Amino acid sequence: MYKILEKKEVAMRNVWYKVHAPHVARKVQPGQFVIVRAFKNGERIPLTPIMWDREEGWITLMTFIRGKTTMRMANELKVGDELLNVAGPLGNPAEMKKLGRVLAIGAYTGIVEVYPIARAWQEIGNDVTTLHVTFEPMVVMKEDFEKAVGRHIVEPVPMDMTKDMRENMKNVTKRLTEKVRELLETEHFDFVFMVGPTGDQKAVFQVVKEFGIPMEADLHPIMVDGTGMCGSCRVTVGGEVKFACIDGPGFDAYKVAWDELIARTGYYTDMEMLAMQEYMK
Ligand code: FES
Repeated sequence: MYKILEKKEVAMRNVWYKVHAPHVARKVQPGQFVIVRAFKNGERIPLTPIMWDREEGWITLMTFIRGKTTMRMANELKVGDELLNVAGPLGNPAEMKKLGRVLAIGAYTGIVEVYPIARAWQEIGNDVTTLHVTFEPMVVMKEDFEKAVGRHIVEPVPMDMTKDMRENMKNVTKRLTEKVRELLETEHFDFVFMVGPTGDQKAVFQVVKEFGIPMEADLHPIMVDGTGMCGSCRVTVGGEVKFACIDGPGFDAYKVAWDELIARTGYYTDMEMLAMQEYMK
């Protein structure tokens, strides 16, 4: 059913899949996601359809290799294999409305989730600037963005192999916040949107807040079922408990309890590292 029609590593640790999933392709809207189960007894991972063809019945997905499941998918799945399950489309579509001049930001692989939304906003008459900040070898979809939106800015950050990943990631956050500040200081924007690691979303929000510009963030808490049943994706927004899978994934950045979300998102990091190390043995 969910046959892999094409697969390629498009940039360092970024693997692109074209998957036959007609029920998703028929209904999916920008901003929605699917939950993929690739292997028997494997974990369920939320991924965002980037492009789709409603008639041919395919969607495209991108994984960033960051844990055991995404590594297994990259290593073990080949064209012609089938994913066990692709559930969706899930979550709420992004609101399609006149926003004016929009700055849509993606950090790392978060940029691929920005794509369907930014393209649709541009198509309905908004003037969309997209900004992608990531490590140099991880730049993806540059030409796709250049065709789809008013202006696409890429800020590649070199990787310093003498430093550990955490130090390198600090450089991405620094470049991200500096570039956002520069853009907001020199140009007028009516709305900011962002997808990326929660810590970077918070860092960008703190800059945007100084300018008083409305901002929405697509949140990525841990998800399991994607249907509001398990509670793992709960976030506090405006003092109320929300489930990112059914109430989001897009939320008003001014109302998100960022520190709580960052703490919850990092809860399983050690276990994820351990699982990946075991797999790599
Ligand atoms: Fe289970 Fe949202 S993923 S409630």
